[in-house]
Amino acid sequence: MHRKAPYGWYLTAFELPYIYPPAGTGKRTIQTTVAAGIIWVDKTSTPAILSTLVMGALRVDILTLFPRMFEGVFNESILRRAKEKGKVDYHVHDIRDHTRDKHRSVDEPPYGGGPGMVLRPEPVVRAVEAIPGYQQARRILLTPVGQRFDQARAKTLARIEHLILICGHYEGIDERVRWILEPEEVSVGDFILTGGELAAMVVVDAVTRLLPGVLGCEDSTMCESFSEGRLEYPQFTRPASYRGHDVPDVLLSGHHQKIADWRDKMSAERTWTRRPDLLEGTHDADHQRD
Ligand SMILES: C[S@@+](CC[C@H](N)C(=O)[O-])C[C@H]1O[C@@H](n2cnc3c(N)ncnc32)[C@H](O)[C@@H]1O
Repeated sequence: MHRKAPYGWYLTAFELPYIYPPAGTGKRTIQTTVAAGIIWVDKTSTPAILSTLVMGALRVDILTLFPRMFEGVFNESILRRAKEKGKVDYHVHDIRDHTRDKHRSVDEPPYGGGPGMVLRPEPVVRAVEAIPGYQQARRILLTPVGQRFDQARAKTLARIEHLILICGHYEGIDERVRWILEPEEVSVGDFILTGGELAAMVVVDAVTRLLPGVLGCEDSTMCESFSEGRLEYPQFTRPASYRGHDVPDVLLSGHHQKIADWRDKMSAERTWTRRPDLLEGTHDADHQRD
């Protein structure tokens, strides 16, 4: 669906075109860079940029005991292309490189007894403190006791310049890592993973695809599930008829307004039946109840 931004002021991130290199210094092409700034959208949905602050690539530092787990994920598909386009810069650090004993040990049994091992504080704190600019960075500890990660948080993180993700393992991390580094605590759901690596990949993927210029079609992130507090409408492609199931006629009609209305209705109905919690307190909730 092509939903236009409503009338108003927006503080947002966007792509800023520029011509490079300067005149007379070689073949010039139009390039883009990531910028943040204030946009005014008028009643005809025409945006005007009022002020800009050019942003560099998002720097992502990941602290893990298993750096090789990230090799495949960062070298495929959109995450790889985002890196190649200079939109994001990934740095994966092995926590074990910050140990100081000859066995490179990172875990110890918990004080007070109990099952399993706990990640020691020193290598984790040292690994974070070795990252340039770590004090200003957004520091996130992946943990099941954290706040639930969602699209709103992904959008917020897509506007920052530096993100540090700390992956726990074993029974978790010594509590003093929280006291010293004061990270935000983020969970990817009410289940227990073996380590924070898969959770970190979820966060990096969700954030990277929202960086301006990464998907190439900004519309696709504006009208997908959760972006407007709803689930997406059903999607269809060729063939028009498959095993006796036909694509709804309206989608073949070529009538843009009718298609937009149908998608809007489907999106509202689907959200109401599957995730009514998303509609709590919204106009959509009142409308569906009537
Ligand atoms: C086996 S878990 C530890 C679980 C911990 N004993 C508890 O009960 O809360 C090991 C590590 O995996 C990561 N992890 C597990 N589940 C997670 C989730 N749902 N969200 C984010 N990170 C998670 C965290 O980094 C955690 O330190």
